[in-house]
Amino acid sequence: MPLTRTTPQAAKTIGAAGPRKPVALITGASRGLGRALAGALAEDGWNLVLTARGAAQLDEAAAQLSALTRIAALAGSVVDDDHRVALAEAAAELGGADLLVNNASTLTGFDLDGAALPTLGAFPLTGLLETFEVNVLGPIALTQLVLPQLRRSGGAVINLSSDAAAEAYAGWGGYGASKAALDHASAVLAVEEPRLRVWAVDPGDMRTRMHEEAFPGEDISDRPLPETVIPAFRLLLRDWPPSGRYRAVDLLATIKESV
Ligand SMILES: NC(=O)c1ccc[n+]([C@@H]2O[C@H](COP(=O)([O-])OP(=O)(O)OC[C@H]3O[C@@H](n4cnc5c(N)ncnc54)[C@H](OP(=O)(O)O)[C@@H]3O)[C@@H](O)[C@H]2O)c1
Repeated sequence: MPLTRTTPQAAKTIGAAGPRKPVALITGASRGLGRALAGALAEDGWNLVLTARGAAQLDEAAAQLSALTRIAALAGSVVDDDHRVALAEAAAELGGADLLVNNASTLTGFDLDGAALPTLGAFPLTGLLETFEVNVLGPIALTQLVLPQLRRSGGAVINLSSDAAAEAYAGWGGYGASKAALDHASAVLAVEEPRLRVWAVDPGDMRTRMHEEAFPGEDISDRPLPETVIPAFRLLLRDWPPSGRYRAVDLLATIKESV
């Protein structure tokens, strides 16, 4: 059963190569949701490959988490071909990926610098191209490279989605269309790779830099911290539900119902 291969406890006791910890590759792991998830998986006994562009913040996260587990931290962009290859190789060196989390994302593909999100009618095309490269092409390309490892482990892919993929909000056309494309790619991958789990997860609004940038000048202190949605990800990894699109709010509700 894939579940027994990906839960940390079971993974320590199986495999031709002997006992080993499960391995997760997380993009955008230097802050926000990616950092919170990296912390949780490190606590749960996973070895981790972490990436983000900014080396200083990534190294800080890696230094903190290396007290708990083995960490390979590689700074670079998910749109960089060589960087993606290096990430897949780092996961292989740790024993092979059991989980790929495509979490790194951009709102517009350029620095908004306090400006509002552009409408589609005025969206700079270079920004739109970068949005799709970071949010769709990068995740698909990284998945291609990590798939052989995931097939061996019977592992999982988590692609971070958004309600903007399903709802039509003014200003969210570029980001929302890219997340809708990633949702669809996730669904197709799930059909093509029935032995894996492919989960698209909408984490809901969170108090992060991305959210701050989306609502310039607004007080977003009422939004929950990313740590609050981590139980939803732990639930997926524990219960190993069928591939599909999940909302963290629904997963969290099932946890509340069961206590
Ligand atoms: N926050 C929300 O309310 C919300 C709601 C729905 C969905 N989401 C989704 O949840 C995920 C996490 O969002 P977040 O709010 O935690 O964002 P965040 O705080 O802005 O963090 C984004 C992370 O991705 C990295 N990153 C950005 N571009 C990258 C690139 N090209 N290559 C590699 N790393 C890159 C960032 O580091 P560097 O800048 O140093 O590269 C950072 O580590 C995203 O997929 C987002 O779309 C967020």
